[in-house]
Amino acid sequence: MVNVALPKGRLGEKAYRVFEKAGYSCPSILEPSRKLIFENTAAGVRYFWVKPSDVAIYVERGAADVGVAGKDILLEYAPEVYELADLAMGKCRMAVAAKKDFRDDTEKTLRVATKFGNIAREFYAGKGRDIDIIRLNGSIELAPILGLSDVIVDIVETGATLKENDLAVVEEIAAISARLIAGKAAYRFKGMEIENMCRAIAAVVEEQA
Ligand code: PRP
Repeated sequence: MVNVALPKGRLGEKAYRVFEKAGYSCPSILEPSRKLIFENTAAGVRYFWVKPSDVAIYVERGAADVGVAGKDILLEYAPEVYELADLAMGKCRMAVAAKKDFRDDTEKTLRVATKFGNIAREFYAGKGRDIDIIRLNGSIELAPILGLSDVIVDIVETGATLKENDLAVVEEIAAISARLIAGKAAYRFKGMEIENMCRAIAAVVEEQA
């Protein structure tokens, strides 16, 4: 049995469809309910609905064997997991954004509002730029508008949130998409099952490209 942590929500449902096509169906998962665990013994798979930002924790600690996690989370928390495949979904960008009239005054420490403190720290360290990180949990776009920060480091998907708040991308940091990850212990003990799953999933992703 391979235990799979899927991110609750639209991305997880899309990811499940890929697993389903790859031969790991579990029809009960699509029925409306508040249940969090679903299994199909015949297909050798058990699914968990997990908060998207927690998937890597379940996999890293072995509570799930594999999972679907955003590259943003993998970059930010650097969990000890194997990244097996790019699922080519949940595509977006990690970017620096600011008010349209923003000009960087390099004499001053740059105030950066973000949920992704490690990504921001590493990005600006690479440029040798001094920053002050202001950690927020959501609605990051408010920070430069209210003067709480100079820039934000955040996810941009359609760009609508920036546009509707008169902000613009200053620089791109990384391309983000959903990845199939596996735990190190799981890979050691269920290597064959996980490799078969990974191969079947990669084939479905390839077919859909
Ligand atoms: C994310 C991100 C941006 C928005 C980008 O927020 O933080 O705010 O989506 O998407 P867009 O480019 O398509 O407008 P999320 O909806 O996850 O909520 P949050 O404010 O809690 O971060």
